[in-house]
Amino acid sequence: MVKEKDIWNVLEKIRDPELGVSIVKMGMIKKVELKGDAVYIECELTTPACPLKKEIEDSIRSELSRIEGIRNVEIKTTAKVLPSRRILPEDILPSVKNIIAIGSGKGGVGKSTVATNLSIVLAKSGAKVGLLDGDIYGPSIPRMLGIKEPVRTDGKKLIPPEVYDIKVISIGFFITEDTPLIWRGPIISGALRQLFTDVDWGELDYLIVDLPPGTGDIPLTLAQTLPNAHGVIVTTPQPAAYSIAMKALMMFKKLNLNVIGVIENMSYFICPHCKNRVEIFGSGGGKELAEKLNVSFLGSIPLDPEVRISSDEGVPIVISNPHSEASKAYFDVARRLAGKLSMISFKLLRS
Ligand SMILES: Nc1ncnc2c1ncn2[C@@H]1O[C@H](COP(=O)(O)OP(=O)(O)OP(=O)(O)O)[C@@H](O)[C@H]1O
Ligand SMILES: [Mg+2]
Repeated sequence: MVKEKDIWNVLEKIRDPELGVSIVKMGMIKKVELKGDAVYIECELTTPACPLKKEIEDSIRSELSRIEGIRNVEIKTTAKVLPSRRILPEDILPSVKNIIAIGSGKGGVGKSTVATNLSIVLAKSGAKVGLLDGDIYGPSIPRMLGIKEPVRTDGKKLIPPEVYDIKVISIGFFITEDTPLIWRGPIISGALRQLFTDVDWGELDYLIVDLPPGTGDIPLTLAQTLPNAHGVIVTTPQPAAYSIAMKALMMFKKLNLNVIGVIENMSYFICPHCKNRVEIFGSGGGKELAEKLNVSFLGSIPLDPEVRISSDEGVPIVISNPHSEASKAYFDVARRLAGKLSMISFKLLRS
């Protein structure tokens, strides 16, 4: 007769593929129920977008099926996102577990498009997600998400509009497109701070912050406002990419923000007619760049006219065409990003 203890003994030996630590020691196994020759397992991951979800489930299933007397293994997987940042008592966003600032060394590389699609994909996986448009001179997120209605308030705080299950805030909600902002430094930093403190974000697993282009004052001010955030750099595969990405890396470093990785956007071209993949700048550039910068490579997004068209229409491609190559790329990048944050969280928890 199989005993529950035998099941635990087997589970104990299964390791998280990335961390190499036993899944039991990590506290991932929440329940073991044995009924005759059937066993029911409840497994809690550190992110619903876990890149190793299938691998872990497969290991549990195959290892338990090997026990003599077990014929049926049922696994229920849930997720509870852990904070990857130290949340201090004076933190301005105490109920936000992870803050990810998306930056670049220059404009127009696709930060806002990446920030928008990644936010949606993380929310689709089941996480609670907020998206903050930090581009106060050229906010593009409201248009990319087709948000037109004014922001409501409950008298105390601003209620961020919700689209595709993400909460969104942007300076663009408070100005019209033809009133350029001419605020000076201190007002800007005050306004940016308010986007964090005066908004009812509620509990968030991930807050994605779309930084303005370049490495000037505003991205600096904004990044400074973010308590214990992580940085992600978006690059394009031009030959000058290295020095541009380096600028972004230096900006994050200057602020003591930990850079977790690089995303290469417009990496290769998907021909809209034949759907063939054309490597305009050769392949592997993004990966090499990440190695040179000594950060992780989170993946590449193809240059696909549909990405731009869907953004222009206010329905991002991961919604309008979730099976496209570009959407799959956003899903992969989101999983890698979430996985990376989980590892940081786990190390933080142990330290
Ligand atoms: N993978 C892609 N394929 C095709 N077009 C793209 C892709 N990524 C972004 N674009 C388009 O490139 C343009 C610039 O993108 P986006 O606004 O996201 O860049 P950005 O880095 O946020 O720019 P800025 O620095 O001005 O804030 C947009 O028209 C967008 O639709
Ligand atoms: Mg932008």
